[in-house]
Formats: sequence, structure tokens, C-alpha cells
Amino acid sequence: MKLPKSPLYASAALAGAASLAFAAKVTRTVLDRRYYERQGVAFSRTYPFIGSEADVSGLINRNKTRDYLYLDHPATDFVGSIRGFDIQLYAVNKQTTEVLVSPSVTGRYIDRDTPARYSFGQLSPSAMTFQKITTEHFGDRKRNLGKGFDQARIFAISARRAAESCRPAAGDDAPLDMKRIAGDYTRDVMGEFVWGEEAMGLTVPFKDPDGAVSQVPFMFALNETFTGLRFYSNRFWNRVHFPLATWPVTREARRLQHNIRSLQHHLAGVLRRTPGPGTVWEQVATGNAQFGIPTEITRDDLLTASIAGLDTVQNTILATLWYVLLPENEKWRDAIAAATGEEQDELVEACVSETLRLSPPGSVINNKVVADFDVAVEGRRYLLKAGTRVMPNIHALHAEYGGAFEPERFLGTEKGAEPYVMPFGKGRRSCPGRNLGMVMAKNFVGCFLTAHPAARITNTADKDVHFNNLSHSQLLIATGPRSTVDGAK
Ligand code: HEM
Repeated sequence: MKLPKSPLYASAALAGAASLAFAAKVTRTVLDRRYYERQGVAFSRTYPFIGSEADVSGLINRNKTRDYLYLDHPATDFVGSIRGFDIQLYAVNKQTTEVLVSPSVTGRYIDRDTPARYSFGQLSPSAMTFQKITTEHFGDRKRNLGKGFDQARIFAISARRAAESCRPAAGDDAPLDMKRIAGDYTRDVMGEFVWGEEAMGLTVPFKDPDGAVSQVPFMFALNETFTGLRFYSNRFWNRVHFPLATWPVTREARRLQHNIRSLQHHLAGVLRRTPGPGTVWEQVATGNAQFGIPTEITRDDLLTASIAGLDTVQNTILATLWYVLLPENEKWRDAIAAATGEEQDELVEACVSETLRLSPPGSVINNKVVADFDVAVEGRRYLLKAGTRVMPNIHALHAEYGGAFEPERFLGTEKGAEPYVMPFGKGRRSCPGRNLGMVMAKNFVGCFLTAHPAARITNTADKDVHFNNLSHSQLLIATGPRSTVDGAK
């Protein structure tokens, strides 16, 4: 091919090629959508190029996540949407979900491909969360992480730290800022559990939102950067075209990337030291070394273990306290405060489980069809094409049981009669930290309600209160005598 002679021709040729590529992608997306519509898939409202993101913005502004878009679906097996240039299908009933999470299907036809790698994936790109199940040593890595998740140890650490966090403050009647308190708690528990007290206390250079750099504790920098990446990637244009979130074109993107480099550099030094005894670090570093897994991968799996229980557990705690302390649900507060031991544990567990049904902190992680894939659901057939994004929509599954807070559905339920819920996912890609998350949330909620039996929310009048990983909602709780503190906000 003859090259254009002047820079002007070259730019015009480049712009032309880009427009053609863009048009080809748009055409493919439109045709793919028609293909699924012909098979009976109902699509959410989509706009040219920006897909459903305008409606998703409306939800995010009201402290809800994109998953709420698919709750009021017509009778259908899959709801479709457009994300970037991809078709995204959500399985919205039990039958289709079971097909997606059953091992034979997960192993062969669908596998990890998640926009989250442009979000907090920048922090730990090799972490198992972003890898396909066929990645070398995937199973060994997940097992090593599981071995490090010592139940007795997380129980001891979280019980001690919950007692410190929930201790009544003498002489101070101001409502408690529970978002801060629960955030500090989850950060300290996860830091000590994964790294040990000594390593979690080390400091790293951290650039704050004003651009000032100072030394701050490692877990603080990690938590801020992780949460910042999550929020940044959910800005409108970063949702339309995911890779934009990684471009250093805004001050916030450059600040986050500065902090990522700082954290990774810090950990490269830490991982040359001897791990604290009993830590997740010790188990994963020793186990991975036996398989010759590179340190960078071990670093990223440990980073994942450090962050996966931060926003998720914080929001589980906030949402549980919100539901339990709403005036119409106070019988649950009183029952938990009056109970002890196993009885209290069962009540708290039922309240946390019902909260995770109504307000799961996140969704399952996205997957893509890797080879054309035939799905049969009660006589209806779907041919899912390679490259289509597909995942269960847990909000839609959970909504089948209504919007009322009814923890009794999880109390003494006979085997087989439990609600079909999956706040931790299901199958081989499900959450390995499920038991840890439950212990951390239960220890905090039980301890808080025992220490503050008269606790009540003072910001019930706030608009759009929902707790999840993208919410800005606050939770303010008064613990003192009603007359002095009520109406403080
Ligand atoms: C209430 C707290 C938590 C909730 C609601 C939660 C929920 C989830 C969900 C929905 C997934 C995706 C599952 C899927 O795609 O099928 C997941 C994955 C994961 N979670 Fe959790 N999680 C919680 C706490 C934790 C904790 C405490 C840890 C570890 C310390 C953890 C570690 C992970 C890891 C490593 C993955 C990725 C697994 C994989 O890719 O195979 N999670 N979690």
C-alpha cells in the first residue's frame, strides 16, 4: 500500500480508519442485539453508543448499583444490555443461573472477563479475581488462599477489634458516624489478619485528593486507593469505555496511579521479609513458593485478600444495622440485645443473611462466553455466542422473595427450603472469603447491639439510603438517652 505523503493526509487516513473500526464495532453490537432479541431475550432500554449507562447513572446517583436496572424484568430467562461494545446478558432466574454456575459450564464455556480489571484490577492485575480458571496454578492459588483463611484466627481478631470499636464513649452524646467506625474496623481486622500487626503498621507515601504527599499506614493507603479506583471507574465515560479509567488524563487518575505504584513498590520490599506467624501472607507465600509461582502473583493474591473484605464487609455491617434499627424492625434489635451466646449468634446470622438478600454489597464478577454455548431452559433454547458477557443477576434472584426485611426466613429453615440466594456467588468462582466476611460482620453487629441496646438511627429522613460498594449513604446512630441526642441531624 502507498503511504500518504503529507501529515494532513496521514491524519485524515488515521481518522478514517478509526471511524471505520468504530462503525464496524457498532454494527456488530446492533446485529448481536438483534440476534439475542430473536431468541426471546428482553433488552433494557439502551441508547446509541452509551448503552444503558444513562439509566445506570440515575441509579448510582440514588445510591443504587447497575444491578437494580434488571429487577422489574418481564417473564424472561435473560435480560440483555449493552456495555461498551459488548452484549451483556443477565440470568434472572434460578434455572438460567444454575446453568451458568455449574462446573462443566463454567470450566468450558464461560470464564472470567471483567471490566473490574480496569478498576481496582489496576492495583493487582495478576490476582485470581481477574484470571481465567484455566490460568496455570489457578486451583493451587485459590487453595493456598483458602488455607490461609483460618476461621479461629479471624474470629479472635474480629471479636477483639469489634469490642474496641463498639465500646461506649464516656460523656459524648453525639450520634456515631458508623461509616467511619465500620470502615476503621474492617481495615484493621483485614490488615492484621492478612499481614500481621507489624507489617500492617508500616507506612507508605500517599497522595491525598489535594495532591499533598505524606506517609500514611499501608492499610489506609490501600483502602483509599481501592475504594477510589472503584468510584473512579464508575464515572459515566469510564463505564461506556472501560479502558478510559486507566488513562492518565485526569488529576484523579494520575493520583490513583501514583498511589498504586507506591503500594506495589512498598509490597515488593515487604515480601522480601519473613512473614508474621499464622498470617495469610505466611500461608500464601509458602504455599505459592512450592509451585514456583512468581512473587508478583503472590503479591496480587495477597492484595486481593486484603481488599476483598473491606467495602463488602463495611457495607454489610452498615446495611444490617440500618435494617435492624429501622423503627418497624426494632423487635430484632431488642431480641439480639437481650440474647447471648448461640441464640444471639443465630439471630444475628439471620439478620445479616436477610440483609445480604435485600442489599448485596456487590454483584457476582463478570464472565464471557469463550465458545458458542447452547442453553436449554424448560424447553426454551438459547445459543450464546463467544464474546458475549454473561452473569447471574443476584439482585433479580433475591428480589423474588419481596422487599420486606424478614430474617425469620433464615431461622431454623429446613434443608432444601432455604431461599435461593447467592450474595457470595456460587460454583468454582464463588467467594473464598464467605465465612470470614460473615464472622467479621456478625461479630461487629452482635457486639454493637449488646453494647448499645437502645441504639437508634438519627438520619432516617435522608433520601435514597442504600448500602453497597458504590453508595455514599451515611449511617448516624444515637446510643444515649433519647431526649439528649434525637434530632441531632
Ligand atoms: C460480606 C462480605 C463479602 C461478600 C458479600 C463477598 C462477595 C463476593 C462475590 C459476589 C464474589 C464473586 C463471586 C462470583 O463471581 O461468582 C466474590 C469473589 C471473591 N471474594 Fe468475596 N465477598 C465478601 C468477603 C470477602 C472476603 C472477606 C474475602 C477475603 C479475605 C473475599 C475474597 C474474595 C476473592 C479472592 C474472590 C475472587 C474469587 C475468584 O475469582 O475465583 N471476599 N466475593
